[in-house]
This record gives sequence, structure tokens and C-alpha cells, in this order.
Amino acid sequence: MDDLLEEIAQEIRRCRKCDLWRSRTNAVPGEGPADAAIMFIGEGPGAAEDKQGRPFVGPAGQLLNSLLLQAGLRRPEVFITNIVKCRPPQNREPRPDEVRACREYLDGQIAAINPRIICLLGRPATQTLLDPTASISKIHGQPVERDGILYVPLYHPAAALHRESLQPVLVEDMARLKSMLRERLG
Ligand code: URA
Repeated sequence: MDDLLEEIAQEIRRCRKCDLWRSRTNAVPGEGPADAAIMFIGEGPGAAEDKQGRPFVGPAGQLLNSLLLQAGLRRPEVFITNIVKCRPPQNREPRPDEVRACREYLDGQIAAINPRIICLLGRPATQTLLDPTASISKIHGQPVERDGILYVPLYHPAAALHRESLQPVLVEDMARLKSMLRERLG
């Protein structure tokens, strides 16, 4: 990570802008190269992530790792983070005030990395960055270009763990992502 990203990560680890700091073990700023062409943005850390201070290291992370491989990507080449950097208690969805409080960190990371493609994992990330009324079941897999960045909403891997019928859908969307990457990044 470069200096700016590391500075943002340090701020996140000290952050007390919303109440989630009270129950965290570790904040989870995100990880990946500062010049990543692709970012993956999830909802928020779960138990395993809170324990380790790293994103997507629990069961959803295992599935994400295999989905990345299906799209021809290796985890060390993408930047992975979440819309909130501290675990919401009982893995509840982050509240709008928590997402708002954390937003400047996410915007700072996106500006520092300047990715070509942002994959939005699940409804909360999609609604936060693309469209507050978006329905993930309607727009998953459909890229939207905005300010020179291609946003690709995808089902969250945790949703596919709970609803097995979503797994082939995610696999298909990853195959489409693979051709988008080929087109856009060569
Ligand atoms: N789910 C998320 O949205 N993010 C993580 O980091 C882990 C699970």
C-alpha cells in the first residue's frame, strides 16, 4: 500500500465517528495494491474479519477467492474493502448513519487507487455507490459506467452461501466480468 492508503488505514484504525468502534476488536480498512485496476467492495466485516483485521477472510471470503479465480483474477492483484470498516454487532446490516460516517474513508480509498472497475458485492454496497433504490436481483451483472469507472453490481458471496440457487448466477456474472476485464484492461 502506498502512503496515502496507509494514512487512511491508520485513521480508520483510530476512528470513533460512529458507535461501531465500541464493539470492534479490529477495524478492517481493506487490503490490496495501491495501483489495483479492480476494487471489490462488500458490506462490512464479519466475525473472522473483526478478529483478524482483514477483509473477506471468513466463509464468504473463501467463496470470493474462488469467484475471483473464475474471473481470471488473483486475490493479491485486487483491492478489497467494505462500505463500513468496523463489524456491525450480530452481523446486522450497517445503518445509514454508519455508512455516512465511514463514507469519506471509502471515497478516499477510491480516489487514491483510481480503479478502472469497481465490483459492488451485494445490495448495501450497490445502493451506497450506485443507486439508493437499486434492486440487486434486477441489476446484478450489469455494468454501469460513471466518471470513467465501470461499476459492476454482483450478488454478495454470503447471500450465495445462504441461498445455493444464487451460486450459478454468481458464476455466470463472474464469467461476464472476465470478458469485461479483457475488453477494458486488455
Ligand atoms: N462480508 C463482507 O461484506 N465483508 C467482509 O469483509 C466479510 C464478509
